[in-house]
Amino acid sequence: MEERLLKVRMQNFTYQNAVKIVFGKDSIAQLPELLPQNLKIMITYGGGSIKKNGVYDQVVKALKGFDFVEFGGIEANPQFETCMKAVEIIKKENVSFLLAVGGGSVLDGTKFIAAAVEYKGDAWDIPTGKVTVETALPLASIMTLPATGSEMNGNSVISRKEIGEKRAFASEFVYPKFSILDPVTTFSLPKRQTVNGIVDTFVHVCEQYMTYDVNTPLQDRQAEAILHTVIEEAPKVLKDPNDYDARANIMWSATHGLNLAISCGVVMDWSTHMIGHELTAAFGLDHGKSLAVIMPSVFRYKADKKGDKLVQYANRIWGITEGSKEEIIEKAVVKTVEFFESIGMKTKLSDYGIEVKDCKNIPAVFEKRGVVLGEHSDIKPQDVDKIIAMSA
Ligand code: NZQ
Ligand code: ZN
Repeated sequence: MEERLLKVRMQNFTYQNAVKIVFGKDSIAQLPELLPQNLKIMITYGGGSIKKNGVYDQVVKALKGFDFVEFGGIEANPQFETCMKAVEIIKKENVSFLLAVGGGSVLDGTKFIAAAVEYKGDAWDIPTGKVTVETALPLASIMTLPATGSEMNGNSVISRKEIGEKRAFASEFVYPKFSILDPVTTFSLPKRQTVNGIVDTFVHVCEQYMTYDVNTPLQDRQAEAILHTVIEEAPKVLKDPNDYDARANIMWSATHGLNLAISCGVVMDWSTHMIGHELTAAFGLDHGKSLAVIMPSVFRYKADKKGDKLVQYANRIWGITEGSKEEIIEKAVVKTVEFFESIGMKTKLSDYGIEVKDCKNIPAVFEKRGVVLGEHSDIKPQDVDKIIAMSA
């Protein structure tokens, strides 16, 4: 009896999140006060967007008088091999603080680098979960792409192209010491990345929400507040990419989408992300796109188990109240798909030239890792197969 009750009560949790957020226009200028003095710093960045949009110049200006080296070239879906090159340089140059400047990939790569520098064994053990991270170099970020929430969490996702893997790890040691969020830095985002980021945020919230009720009205309404905000602000940033207010609201929503406050005490289901990561590993599909393709199918496939929450979502987010439970749920899924499509996000595998038959190896990946998905651990490899087939 007690055990059954515990399952439907707010789950016990420990929450600590000490990331200092410095938000707003011109906030990069505050770097000198935020950075540690007398430590050699490495700035990490991606393929060059920061050199085109003026962010690099702002950083270098702010770092006048600091001892620093640079490491560029961290790819979207950061690659293990590239990150390991930074590890070598850090050891040779005695770097003791890392500053990631760019999107989630740069920051995730930097989190991995920070942990790998301190690890004596094969660093691939870190993202594969063979070891628990016990220490890492301190790091901070200047986030230029609202999406991942990486600026305020301890998560990192690392890819290894040559073996077709994309793996995630989490550690309290890789939380940024601070993250600077200047919405102006996001004005230069191509539409593709803006849209990817909006969908990523939306799906993060859903994966912490769309399970079953454990009597957490505050967390539910916090999650719903983020969804409402994203739905309202997304068309504004697409209409005018230089709309500071809309960019600011999207940016802060993304941070809240995955700083894990809304996950406190709730039951989560990260199936869409887990399946999406495999689509990215197999086909190089952008993270946001992989989620847009899979989440509607997860909702439909699990409509029985997620039904009550889907109805709450239908009522509170989309104002849908008419019809049978099944009809309300289906209308809500259609609304979700329409929202994604309305901002220019395609939602079918075929839209990206991917055929279901080419995904046949994906369920076996979960089988091999012994992973089952879903809040009831009832999404088995054969269910993953069906979910992918529904996403054709
Ligand atoms: O590499 P550069 O030249 O910087 O260009 C990037 C990249 O090509 C560009 N970009 C970033 N900021 C820009 C900009 N272009 C113009 N103006 C700007 N202000 O955008 C492209 C994509 O960047 P990326 O960092 O890959 O995107 P995102 O932030 O969406 O990160 C995706 C990665 O994060 C992981 C994903 O799996 C993927 O590997 N995730 C990390 C999570 C976390 N740490 O908590 C959770 C997420 O669910 C996600 O899995
Ligand atoms: Zn994501």
